[in-house]
Amino acid sequence: MNTQQLRGLGRAPTTGCPRRSLVIRNVAELTRPTVAAPAARPRVGVPEGTPVVPPQDLPSRPRRNRRSETFRSAIRENIVSPANFILPIFVHEEGSTNIPIASMPGIFRLAFGKNVIDYVAEARSYGVNQVVIFPKTPDHLKTTTAEEAFNRNGLSQRTIRLLKDTFPDLEVYTDVALDPYNSDGHDGIVSDAGVILNDETIEYLCRQAVSQAEAGADVVSPSDMMDGRVGAIRRALDREGFTNVSIMSYTAKYASAYYGPFRDALASAPKPGQAHRRIPPNKKTYQMDPANYREAVREARADEAEGADIMMVKPGMPYLDVVRLLRETSPLPVAVYHVSGEYAMLKAAAERGWLNEKDAVLEAMTCFRRAGADLILTYYGIEASKWLAGEK
Ligand code: PBG
Repeated sequence: MNTQQLRGLGRAPTTGCPRRSLVIRNVAELTRPTVAAPAARPRVGVPEGTPVVPPQDLPSRPRRNRRSETFRSAIRENIVSPANFILPIFVHEEGSTNIPIASMPGIFRLAFGKNVIDYVAEARSYGVNQVVIFPKTPDHLKTTTAEEAFNRNGLSQRTIRLLKDTFPDLEVYTDVALDPYNSDGHDGIVSDAGVILNDETIEYLCRQAVSQAEAGADVVSPSDMMDGRVGAIRRALDREGFTNVSIMSYTAKYASAYYGPFRDALASAPKPGQAHRRIPPNKKTYQMDPANYREAVREARADEAEGADIMMVKPGMPYLDVVRLLRETSPLPVAVYHVSGEYAMLKAAAERGWLNEKDAVLEAMTCFRRAGADLILTYYGIEASKWLAGEK
């Protein structure tokens, strides 16, 4: 048969009623009760050259369930909502204007006061009612032991108070780690030999967490990766009467290259060492090795035993397997941090017209949910919520 004849077979019958095939091709067809015509169907509205073939004998055709947007949305397995978002906010008080962060287009260090309130008010108007605060500490307040971290009147503590006074029902999360306050740029205290001291650091992390709770924080979030910090912070909070303050632990926080823009935002990268003080150039002795998966189970078990209320995986998109791992090994809520470098990549591609930003971002958010995340920390919190509300 040539293609001309093949096409002839597919031509629509003039009667308009379906023809039954006269050809029985196998025994299975004989025994099947009611089989629709397996022969060639009418072929209209297809391009010239479309081959004419008998229908495949397929009991299952997954595409039937994808046929319309109405049906797709009716059976969608995972949805993302502004209620899932935690919006990070950078705060400064070196002047009264917002300062753009070069490597994070659209994100600013917000001036303490009205600008912070306006930004959070905008987020709330789109249904984002959770924020996490990151203060930009001026250099003259940074020390090798980072006492500014637990200054009851520090920028972080004042921002918590301001936000809770203005929006009592806002969920305010904090970051517990020394890096924004440490002149060495590490999450813990660095010894002269270049060791990040574990237990000594925890003493200050506890004071930091308590000072944040006193200021009104709802959730304190240790991001430092010191061993035993969740339990120590839990005990310190409880001792001071803050039994209702939650702990969101950065459970599986990896030593990632994707934090670069964040460290620009806070000028918090590890500083160069000196002859008499070695300062490690990276955080690999406390943050996890990106190659490791089982190690996340070990961290998760410790955090659960120590009283974490929420477990977090960080970064996000390259670590979805770890999100799924925690989802399946723990009953606790799981959070994922879509970090600064991930934000920067999407923005950069969108600026060049290489990606449809809205579609790419909402896909990323949905994939976090599919992987098992309940909470998503993202700099796209406001923009994504606008898109979800149907705004351009
Ligand atoms: C501080 C902290 C970091 C981030 C959140 N908390 C930086 C780091 O660990 O070096 C990164 C967030 C981001 O990249 O968006 N301990």
